[in-house]
Amino acid sequence: MPLSRLFSSTREIPETSAVPQHIAIVMDGNGRWARKRFLPRVAGHKRGVETVRTMVRLCIERGVENLTLFAFSSENWRRPQDEVSFLMNLFLQALQGEVARLHKNNIRLRIIGDLSRFDEVLVKTIREAEALTAANTALTLSVAANYGGRWDILNAINQMVAAHPEKRDAYTETDLAPFLCLADAPEPDLFIRTGGEQRISNFLVWQLAYTEFYFTDRLWPDFDEAAFDEAIRSYQQRERRFGRTSEQVQQLDSSDGNSAKHA
Ligand code: IPE
Ligand code: IPE
Ligand code: MG
Repeated sequence: MPLSRLFSSTREIPETSAVPQHIAIVMDGNGRWARKRFLPRVAGHKRGVETVRTMVRLCIERGVENLTLFAFSSENWRRPQDEVSFLMNLFLQALQGEVARLHKNNIRLRIIGDLSRFDEVLVKTIREAEALTAANTALTLSVAANYGGRWDILNAINQMVAAHPEKRDAYTETDLAPFLCLADAPEPDLFIRTGGEQRISNFLVWQLAYTEFYFTDRLWPDFDEAAFDEAIRSYQQRERRFGRTSEQVQQLDSSDGNSAKHA
């Protein structure tokens, strides 16, 4: 991956392309999907795993290199104990059931978040899945579990200070960036949230600085190929200015073919 694509969007103007290189998704609406069908909320979580499979396939087919999915937030522990336990079991089962297929399809899997609260078996399964798929190149699938954007930033700060104590009082964005989750991926081009809410819910607080946002009322289990392509089309209509004027962007477009607007 060319280094230029990893630059922080607030430090350099990143390269952009018609297909987002990194999509981040808040997979919301599972509970409501189930309740609408008079099913227990957890039935929606189970059904949501199928949408994950579809999205992974679509990202590979469309040439998206990074997919980051919000599966469990640092605040989701506040849910009823039964639902939390179900989600933990579902996560473990999905990992155990899917890893071979992910590996066969050349997909690199990693889990981002604070794993310290997970039980030993889950952590071991995560580590093994990450190790098995570490060298795969078709897609990097990052699953955010017990992830919080504020945790990510604080965690990075602590690591940065430990790594470079001599820079005290003079740290820069560039010093911090390597310690954030997803440091080896370009910042998300497109953020999708299903389920109708228009908020970040403590997802990638740092990394979304210049990401294009797309909100849809569709519930996660109903988010399908047509809905995904609609989100990409919406992205392709955006003009990514990164602080510049529209005139500057258009001038650049015509001179070097760098497509800030992809229509
Ligand atoms: C998202 O669906 C999945 C998780 C947060 C684990 P929800 O469970 O939040 O579904 P709604 O928002 O209640 O419909
Ligand atoms: C965000 O969804 C977290 C995940 C999708 C994992 P929530 O349903 O937990 O978000 P809020 O509570 O409505 O903001
Ligand atoms: Mg929700």
